[in-house]
Amino acid sequence: MPYTFTRSSELFQRAQRSIAAGVNSGIRKMEAPVPLYFTRGSGANLWDVDGNHYLDFQLGQGALLYGHAPAGMADALGAQARLGTHWAAQSELELDVAERIQRMIPSAELIRFNNSATEVVSAAFRLARAHTGRRLILRFEGHYHGWGDEGLVGFANPADKWGDDENPARTHPSKGVIPEVLDQFVVARWNDVAHLRRRVDAYRGQIAAIVFEPVLCNTCCLEPVAGLMSTIRELCDRDGMLMISDETITGFRFGAACAQGYYGYKPDLTILGKAVGGGTPFAALAGTRAAMAKILSGEVVHAGTLNGNPLCLAASKWCLDQVIALGADHPGRIQQLGRRLMAGLSALAAEHRVPLRPQGPGLIFHAVMLKPGAAEGPINDYRDYVRRQDAPRWAHLRRCLLEEGVRAIERGLWSISLAHTDADIDEALKRAAVAFRRHAATWQAPA
Ligand SMILES: Cc1ncc(COP(=O)(O)O)c(C=O)c1O
Repeated sequence: MPYTFTRSSELFQRAQRSIAAGVNSGIRKMEAPVPLYFTRGSGANLWDVDGNHYLDFQLGQGALLYGHAPAGMADALGAQARLGTHWAAQSELELDVAERIQRMIPSAELIRFNNSATEVVSAAFRLARAHTGRRLILRFEGHYHGWGDEGLVGFANPADKWGDDENPARTHPSKGVIPEVLDQFVVARWNDVAHLRRRVDAYRGQIAAIVFEPVLCNTCCLEPVAGLMSTIRELCDRDGMLMISDETITGFRFGAACAQGYYGYKPDLTILGKAVGGGTPFAALAGTRAAMAKILSGEVVHAGTLNGNPLCLAASKWCLDQVIALGADHPGRIQQLGRRLMAGLSALAAEHRVPLRPQGPGLIFHAVMLKPGAAEGPINDYRDYVRRQDAPRWAHLRRCLLEEGVRAIERGLWSISLAHTDADIDEALKRAAVAFRRHAATWQAPA
């Protein structure tokens, strides 16, 4: 029998009276039929208030690289909580974590901690502008850099406003933002090296930094095409711009040296979030000594009451030790599990004639639902994705999957944790088979 969500529905109703719109982050409203309320997690498993059990591939929006509630992290947090939860001062723990990051990521010569990647993005943009004395940041369409005013420019350009292919628009999905914020950005399309060169040349001498998600996880899990990273590096060196790698999702998921190790490039600044804290509110800015110079001199303000919080540091130290201990096995093991899951989903899609195409490097991937008549073949950039994807049909399948106890990220992204096993993938595919059958039998395209 498909799961029901009676208790979650009751709690969501109750939440309308105390929590604005019932959720604490807008995206959580996307979960259909109702935002779920959870009671506990363990490894790849998650349980909700209705007693439903899920194999979880949402993983706290990707933060839980180590799975739910790993015992070692719980011990580290418990031990630290008894010593102190917050000092707003120094502790040896912050050196333990910073030194680990230095050892793991060659470009991380110096580090500063924050509590969310959104804050780190602000710090990185501020540093880049101070470093170069220039105003503009070049960013790519469809890339998400947190929910701050600056991080969202050009993230979700609507098709009727996105401008021609050569001059992507600078739109903002939120009201309440000062219009001049948009003027601080140049937007380019992802994965088009020649277009990027033209975009940089058009604003030559005015751009402080190029910022990007190395794998466009927030839109369809698009890996960089060959030559893209080396071109960004070359242009940054040529024009004195900073290369900012936003590794909030890819950090430590793609190996100890993150996506920059996996794809072989060296940025000036790196934004770390999610897996660096394993589900605690922890994030870090890492950079070369030269790129961090204005923090060293005190000319750039970087602050925060909870920065270097000892609970987060204790968790992070445990997390990083897991990645270090895996050595060369990481990310190969989660990649192999993810590829099995992708292949299994593809086979179910073919069997039930569902136009679902999993895409990505495996250790994280996006299940793309194609519109009727949409071209086959890999999706390459944000516009291609918007043109070809069938969002209502994916939402229907995702709900069927959820009702059988398989949970992916609302927009279609799937992450694998170090706690997932082959048996978890088998079980997820067994449940997915039921979900696909029901989806194929009940899906009706809107008239
Ligand atoms: C690439 C990227 N950058 C920045 C952020 C912002 O992270 P946070 O929500 O921790 O502020 C996110 C969040 O999903 C992200 O995916």
